[in-house]
Amino acid sequence: MAKIDAIAELKADHVQVRDILLDIIEAANRRNATKALELLLRLDKLGGPHFQWEEESFYPALERFFGPEYKEYLFSVHDRIIRAAKQLAEILGKGEITEEESRKIPAVIRSEVLPHPIECEGLTLFSGKLTKEELEAMAEHFEATRKEGLALLEWADKVRTRKVA
Ligand SMILES: [Fe+2]
Repeated sequence: MAKIDAIAELKADHVQVRDILLDIIEAANRRNATKALELLLRLDKLGGPHFQWEEESFYPALERFFGPEYKEYLFSVHDRIIRAAKQLAEILGKGEITEEESRKIPAVIRSEVLPHPIECEGLTLFSGKLTKEELEAMAEHFEATRKEGLALLEWADKVRTRKVA
């Protein structure tokens, strides 16, 4: 029996993601690359198990409600976030944020990353339609992905079968 409630954990992750994203925007506005990179690494760590679980458990379980096309769209949103995370890591890895980058970082976060927690919260609307057994299996899988603890970009490069160019 899993020790966690998968949907509660999902929602708690989104709260953390929201705060980290807003803090990265603030750090970018102040051109504080060290702080922004530290926040991005936290996001990378949190996002790996979260995305892996969504793609392997959550989205497949919800597919019977919203259909395969919408599931494909959700995967493509993850593709965009992985691409954005690589872009942000490249900028912040230089150790400084230029004036231009201080405008680019918030724009990338707002257009490519923030829509996910907003939309993913909405998906929890369907969790009440899942069976107890499904929720239990999902909770066990969430625990397992966290225990494995692959960071987002590590998972995207090494485990995820869908590749992002
Ligand atoms: Fe999510």
